[in-house]
Amino acid sequence: MDQDDPGEAMAELQDRHFGGLGILQVAAGTSLLAYAVWAGLLMPGFRKVPLRLQVPYVPASRKQVDNVMRLLQGRSGKMVDLGSGDGRIVLAAYRQGFCPVVGYELNPWLLQLSRFHAWRAGCAQKVSYQKKDLWKVNLADCKNITVFLAPSVLHLLENKLLEELPNETRVISGRFPLPNWEPTATVGEGLDKVWAYDIGDIRQNMETRATAFLQGTPVI
Ligand SMILES: C[S@@+](CC[C@H](N)C(=O)[O-])C[C@H]1O[C@@H](n2cnc3c(N)ncnc32)[C@H](O)[C@@H]1O
Repeated sequence: MDQDDPGEAMAELQDRHFGGLGILQVAAGTSLLAYAVWAGLLMPGFRKVPLRLQVPYVPASRKQVDNVMRLLQGRSGKMVDLGSGDGRIVLAAYRQGFCPVVGYELNPWLLQLSRFHAWRAGCAQKVSYQKKDLWKVNLADCKNITVFLAPSVLHLLENKLLEELPNETRVISGRFPLPNWEPTATVGEGLDKVWAYDIGDIRQNMETRATAFLQGTPVI
């Protein structure tokens, strides 16, 4: 460029300006596309769920499902998977004899997939997949609950479960333990580990700790 030519200098300046703007436009376009994929494909149905409560879809492995079912062996009554994904845990529970079996899920694609899997397995009428926000369903009649959720929401879930569940209910958590509860039993190692919590035991434990605290002999 001729340093002394003001016309040429201005043209280069405009070029640079456009370059900066161009990068901004590409960045904005990419973000918009990423958001559209997130909102439209991965998290549709979650518009009304606060961001801090949104948990993405990561299906349980075969081993994780087997471990969940081991901790539910010999039990009966209503079984619910909170955030049922493609419905695999609900189907496994039905095969193990649970009735009724319900999956709550907000993602409409996953609900369609769950219903397809149930139809293919010949039990479309036997299991139920409902488009409901797990934070808004009442769980008072559930005797068996499974959750594969993110650690960030588990402390809130503990409060909901304690408020609503009867003493006979068993809660199974996969991938992450419930942060403040003592498990009754566990199965598996590493990523395949699952934890079982009996609500009656959890309440009893809390009472014991509260009494000991009031008497000045806290349980460590
Ligand atoms: C980690 S995946 C587990 C899926 C399934 N339970 C499994 O183990 O294969 C969590 C699922 O919960 C669903 N989910 C997250 N928040 C939810 C909410 N508030 N109400 C209903 N479903 C929700 C997600 O769409 C996702 O499918």
